[in-house]
Amino acid sequence: MIDVKDLNKEQAAEELKRIAEETAKADVAYYQNDAPFLTDAEYDALKRRNEEIEKRFPDLVRDDSPSKRVGAPLQSAFGKVTHRFPMLSLADVFSMAEVEDFIAGVKRFLNTDSDIAFMCEPKIDGLSFTARYENGVFVQGATRGDGREGEDITENLKTVAELPQKIADAPDVLEVRGEVYMSKADFFMLNEKYAAAGKKTFANPRNAAAGSLRQLDPEITRERNLSIFAYTWGEVSERVWTSQEDFFNHLRVWGFPTNPNNRLCRNTAEIEKFFADLMEIRASLAYDIDGVVYKVNDIVLQERLGFLTRTPRWAVAHKFPAEQALTTIRDIRIQVGRTGALTPVADLEPVNVGGVIVAHATLHNEDEIKRKDIRLGDTVIIQRAGDVIPQVVGVLTEKRLAGAAEFVFPHTCPECGAHAIREEDEAVRRCTGGLTCPAQAIERLKHFVSRDAFDIEGLGGKIIETFYKEKIITGPVDIFTLEKRNNGSRDDLFATDDGLHLEAREGWGKKSAANLFKAINERRRISLARFIYALGIRQVGAATSRLIAQNFESFDNFAAETEAGRTEKLLAIDGIGESMAHDIVEFFKEEHNLATIRRLRQEVTVEDFAEQVNNDSPLAGKTLVFTGTLARLTRSEAKAKALAAGAKVAGSVSKNTDYVVLGEAAGSKAKKAAELGIVTLSEEEFLNLLGH
Ligand code: IVH
Repeated sequence: MIDVKDLNKEQAAEELKRIAEETAKADVAYYQNDAPFLTDAEYDALKRRNEEIEKRFPDLVRDDSPSKRVGAPLQSAFGKVTHRFPMLSLADVFSMAEVEDFIAGVKRFLNTDSDIAFMCEPKIDGLSFTARYENGVFVQGATRGDGREGEDITENLKTVAELPQKIADAPDVLEVRGEVYMSKADFFMLNEKYAAAGKKTFANPRNAAAGSLRQLDPEITRERNLSIFAYTWGEVSERVWTSQEDFFNHLRVWGFPTNPNNRLCRNTAEIEKFFADLMEIRASLAYDIDGVVYKVNDIVLQERLGFLTRTPRWAVAHKFPAEQALTTIRDIRIQVGRTGALTPVADLEPVNVGGVIVAHATLHNEDEIKRKDIRLGDTVIIQRAGDVIPQVVGVLTEKRLAGAAEFVFPHTCPECGAHAIREEDEAVRRCTGGLTCPAQAIERLKHFVSRDAFDIEGLGGKIIETFYKEKIITGPVDIFTLEKRNNGSRDDLFATDDGLHLEAREGWGKKSAANLFKAINERRRISLARFIYALGIRQVGAATSRLIAQNFESFDNFAAETEAGRTEKLLAIDGIGESMAHDIVEFFKEEHNLATIRRLRQEVTVEDFAEQVNNDSPLAGKTLVFTGTLARLTRSEAKAKALAAGAKVAGSVSKNTDYVVLGEAAGSKAKKAAELGIVTLSEEEFLNLLGH
């Protein structure tokens, strides 16, 4: 190989081209196909040579240079599968006290003092899968994906020996769900083989399982020897089991592996013992687990408890205690969020914490830094619990370098230079730059396209940042004018606007540009709840947005109240308090917010709430108030049922109330209902209207 200093310009250009192509191929092999053909050392050497040549010939730097690239986009070559029943996740808790809160919540919801039986299952640290059987034959397998849509891994799952291909005496349609994992032994063997071949090894069995399952060539999956445990179900034509325990019995008869450590526990003491016992044997298990899952055993109770947005009310994941490690703080950066909040983040000397490399930790806010007295260069204990962002537990002050100064929290925004102020009773300091602050604008855009908002696929964080910096998208409206602006107006003879031509950009093509426009256009109709959430009003999350949508029914109704600065209707909603109502009204006082909304509504159609309640329930659209103690339902259960039937639930009786449901010992609200002549219902009548 010619030494860099001896290359002439022509040779240099050729060499840069070769390295760009070679590293691009290596990236795909490493990131997408999980089959690296270069060792880390070889790859690094190529990049280093590339850098040296670029330094000598800066005008030869290519658009596709590895110095400009970070990894290969994780493009999926797999087909997509829409889950007929979403694949949910579980809420996490980290202590026995929180488990007890969870159990108490379940009992309160069900209005019972008796013990409830829970199925306790080791939480397998793998990847969830769903396997669909029609007439007893395995027909489709998928990953969880985002819970609604996963990747089609049918062919890969067929190579997993433990998954039955045919099952006898099963319902016509049966989706069995569980976890694919790699045993610790198989993981070590695979890594040894890779290391011997000079290939990059996997960080932990979970990553190895993921890499093995998402192989374009199913034969590679077969060689990797993956295992499964089944633990739940998706769509079924006939549910022939009555409890989680009973379901496990069926699974075993059908030939699915179930975890031998699953146990039915009848009270809190038994649950506590299960957890302690499992911690004891954790290290000796053949596979990694990261906690325990508790599920209400009785399916009838599960059905009464139902679901929150993305998690069931009848189950919870109890994660094992956090893993800790020692490292040093390289830098403290200030991040600016959507609402202008300044959040300090520590850049760490990367360290392995329980199998995951950690390079950053949140420092929460300025008081937290003061309280823990965290300084640059400090040696700190960091911990990681579940999927939460790693945290700094404390500083080893005896290791502090001489002269390390106290950290000074900035009083101006590091992104836009505006004043950053802290309200009297708030812990956070906020940038006052509003939309003129690029960091805030970018974070708002990310929120706007996020899953519970406009849910625009293909507009990821990196793309938003680039498009914002290049002024291609500076606000939400720009997203919807993107396609028009892309082609410019060259059909107009005198126009000079040549258009954006995304398809000509580095890393883009006709197809990816077309896909993006399609994804955007598919969102030109949006539900009222999503639209309200997308606005990014402070404190107004997805659940609150749904409440507002349900109560106001149309955006015009909502805007009419808030723009007039009225909070009465908002405050009447059970679940909205003073502070939230205040933030909502403040949002609508800002002229730039109103202007954005006006422009947006020229681009998108916001569906009225009623359009989505294709509900024949006699309670749909009605406003209910509950008062007194109900006998068969708890208040939260009754409320959840009413909302599910399309009703609104208010906290107080007014002339807008349709029904007041009277429980035991109903007081002033019953009186008020009588005065206003509002129809009252007994619990029995309420249940009848629900169709029970
Ligand atoms: S039940 C609605 N059971 O943990 C119930 N999940 O945090 C859905 N997991 O996505 C899951 N072991 O990948 C369930 N015995 C178990 C599990 C388990 C591992 C994983 C699963 C799920 C995640 C939820």
